[in-house]
Amino acid sequence: MIRYEWVWRPDAAALKGIAGLYKAAGWWEPGDTPQRVCRMVMGSHCFLVARSGRRLVGMGRAISDRTNDGYIQDVFVRPGLRGRGVGAELVRRLALRLRIDGLGWVGLVAVGGTRPFYEGRGFRKMSGHEPMRFQA
Ligand SMILES: CC(C)(COP(=O)(O)OP(=O)(O)OC[C@H]1O[C@@H](n2cnc3c(N)ncnc32)[C@H](O)[C@@H]1OP(=O)(O)O)[C@@H](O)C(=O)NCCC(=O)NCCS
Repeated sequence: MIRYEWVWRPDAAALKGIAGLYKAAGWWEPGDTPQRVCRMVMGSHCFLVARSGRRLVGMGRAISDRTNDGYIQDVFVRPGLRGRGVGAELVRRLALRLRIDGLGWVGLVAVGGTRPFYEGRGFRKMSGHEPMRFQA
């Protein structure tokens, strides 16, 4: 059975599990540390993990201004557990949480190929807009 848990103040075990998910996702840069992950978790609007027994198998988080705008990101499910609705449930809970917390604008930058996944969760491509990143 998969359980979903909000993480607010991660202990060492939670940090190890979350760092493992970032590494498995390929979102771990040289120099990243569990302490940095701790600041990311605590600085997020909310951070959600999916657990199978003691093992973390998925995650997702939202960042926001806590008033109007929120972004969902870092949604990941371990390859062996994909296709069972875990990703959908992570996104459903994150989006609902943002709405309950009063955020009317909820967006995300979808990794290439995941648009159908997010469309199934109620997200729509923003025509006339392109995601950009400051890299100067
Ligand atoms: C994208 C991801 C989170 C989906 O997780 P998942 O647990 O396999 O997804 P689910 O089982 O909940 O799938 C829900 C639906 O989306 C569809 N879907 C899942 N991944 C998809 C993909 N990459 N492309 C198209 N459709 C997809 C499923 O077929 C399913 O369809 P249904 O609602 O008609 O049954 C997972 O594949 C993943 O971790 N990918 C690597 C990281 C990544 O790209 N994250 C997104 C960052 S923006």
